[in-house]
Amino acid sequence: MKPSRSFASDNNAGVHPKIIKAISAVNEGHAVGYGDDAYTKSALRKFREHFGRGSEAFIVFNGTAANVLSFSALTNSYHAVICAEAAHVYVDECGAPEKFSGCKLVPVPTVSGKLTVEAVQRAYHGIGDQHHVQPRIISITQSTEVGTVYKVDEVKALARFAHERGMFLHMDGARIANAAASLKLNLRQATRELGVDVLSFGGTKNGAMGAEAVVFFSSELARDFLYRRKQGMQLASKMRYISAQLDALLSDDLWLRNARHSNRMAKLLERELKEIPGIEIAYKVEANGVFARIPRHAIAKIQQRYFFYVWDEAEAMVRWMCSWDTTEEDVKVFVSFVAKTVGEVF
Ligand SMILES: Cc1ncc(COP(=O)(O)O)c(C=O)c1O
Repeated sequence: MKPSRSFASDNNAGVHPKIIKAISAVNEGHAVGYGDDAYTKSALRKFREHFGRGSEAFIVFNGTAANVLSFSALTNSYHAVICAEAAHVYVDECGAPEKFSGCKLVPVPTVSGKLTVEAVQRAYHGIGDQHHVQPRIISITQSTEVGTVYKVDEVKALARFAHERGMFLHMDGARIANAAASLKLNLRQATRELGVDVLSFGGTKNGAMGAEAVVFFSSELARDFLYRRKQGMQLASKMRYISAQLDALLSDDLWLRNARHSNRMAKLLERELKEIPGIEIAYKVEANGVFARIPRHAIAKIQQRYFFYVWDEAEAMVRWMCSWDTTEEDVKVFVSFVAKTVGEVF
């Protein structure tokens, strides 16, 4: 029998029992729809407690929408968004950011999945030239698509660069909890205090289901976003069930405990994989993902038992993600299967 948990994606994990309980707890009687209910008010209060006064959160269904709507709120169609060449917004959203914001996305090369000021500087040109799109947003992913984490000074430097030029810093925080846990910062310190203007806050990968939010760090930027969310088809009618999840995640440090756990499992996975001849860890393991180059012939054999994605075919690089529900036993059993399979082909 195949194992019930794999390392393919933190999206493949189930929903945390506390979150299921929270959904169940709000499943009593009727509540006004579209967010005008006590549960949503409570969740929004939690967001304010974490991110501080003047922050405004808007609940949406998924991360792609959080990114798209963040861009739409801050741009016109002649603007550009500078992002990493591996950014989810650029590679994995089927062109939704371009379609719905109308903006051009300008991908730039990265170091370990991270944008640098130097790289952004090279993409920042054509200013005031009517033939060129005008850079308006720098978008970074935290933690990154390759499991690394921007350091405090790296985010601050990008924010400074953006703000000195009248641009905004957007953070795709599908895994912001993992990043904050890794940096040993609270959510506000990991975002707003570093100069981020708008955050796509991820809940789904950290134990929720279909629960994300756009968080603005100034009310001015949030102006009219209510209309944009509705027009963008992201206003949930029975919002209480999504709000309850985010409320639970933001209570009693559940966000942090889940993130710390998945990060710790990734470190364990890395340590164990390093012992296997023929496997090379490709990026620093700073959050909940491990990227490894492995003997090409082992890939399909491992996949017969464990579903996962090949990150880079050319380099035979695979992506293994840990989740809030990954156990040490899962890691040990997986690693011994990998070791055996790699040993057979190596
Ligand atoms: C970096 C990143 N951003 C955003 C998303 C949001 O995706 P979705 O629209 O599937 O919720 C994901 C999901 O895989 C992601 O990895």
